[in-house]
Amino acid sequence: MKPADPSFPPVRRLGLGDLPHCLDLAQDRSWPREERKWRLLLENGEGFGIDAPDGGGLAGTVVLTRYGRTAAAVGMMLVASRYSGRGLGRRLMNHVLAEAGDATLFLCATEYGRLLYEKLGFETAGVVEARVGRFDTGDDPYGGPGTGRTASRLAEPARDLAALCALDVEVFGADRSRLLTRLFAFAEQVRVVERGGGITGYGAAWRSGDRLFVGPVVAEDDETARALVTDLTRDADVRIRIDIHHRHQELISWFAGRGLAQASTTAFMVHGGRVLPGDRSRLVASFMSALG
Ligand SMILES: CC(C)(COP(=O)(O)OP(=O)(O)OC[C@H]1O[C@@H](n2cnc3c(N)ncnc32)[C@H](O)[C@@H]1OP(=O)(O)O)[C@@H](O)C(=O)NCCC(=O)NCCS
Repeated sequence: MKPADPSFPPVRRLGLGDLPHCLDLAQDRSWPREERKWRLLLENGEGFGIDAPDGGGLAGTVVLTRYGRTAAAVGMMLVASRYSGRGLGRRLMNHVLAEAGDATLFLCATEYGRLLYEKLGFETAGVVEARVGRFDTGDDPYGGPGTGRTASRLAEPARDLAALCALDVEVFGADRSRLLTRLFAFAEQVRVVERGGGITGYGAAWRSGDRLFVGPVVAEDDETARALVTDLTRDADVRIRIDIHHRHQELISWFAGRGLAQASTTAFMVHGGRVLPGDRSRLVASFMSALG
């Protein structure tokens, strides 16, 4: 391990005023310039960064999103290519580890990040696959029997938010209610499936750049997940992306048959060998990779 490079200033908290520099940094690493996404992350979570000593904006970023006191997601870990390999990634992650306290930290790691995270005590607990393409809703929309049973409807915050958050905390194992409250304004649509008078699944679709992202998706079974994704993408005139957890192999095959190709995979990693609470068998798709 190299000592921290003294030519860089300390890690500082980022605000919305840093948005243009975050976008420049993303572009430097060939990530899209996703302003809406960064704005949500910086408003809802805590962004940290290191200023570039050459006055050229930010040298590195990371965003911590807390879910109550139990768990927290780490995302948007970026170091400008001209400063790579100088210990900034390690310094940013150490900062976040200290900030997070007792919360269980998790993240989705690219191949670039995985080696660094392993060195800092993260362990792989799963795989998340990004599927991208034009979604073919088909003639048999939900791809199976019982379509009437699983039809979804638009969710309304006043009517559904409390029940949606109650289901989510059961599945996710940590309190995402702050984020889910924002989801209604952020997403184009939030939909729910009901059975026996209760919500058994929900999903959202939101735009970033020229893509429609589908997530989060929580569903009690594959049929519910298929209904949600089909209804959320029915009139989409653009390519969609869904980040689906690898344990849902049958759904992944179904998505492949509907035109969504594998775009990338990331390792789902948890810090310190801990096990995340909740019933993750019902967690079908991430909100986005930075949020889990
Ligand atoms: C991942 C990333 C943030 C790392 O930042 P960095 O500042 O270059 O990383 P550091 O210099 O702090 O390296 C940290 C450690 O990881 C190790 N490491 C990083 N990449 C490595 C590689 N390809 N092979 C072996 N070790 C590697 C370094 O050797 C270093 O170990 P050490 O501190 O024990 O010497 C940077 O490469 C990046 O922005 N990549 C593109 C965006 C991305 O994929 N982000 C990750 C999202 S999950």
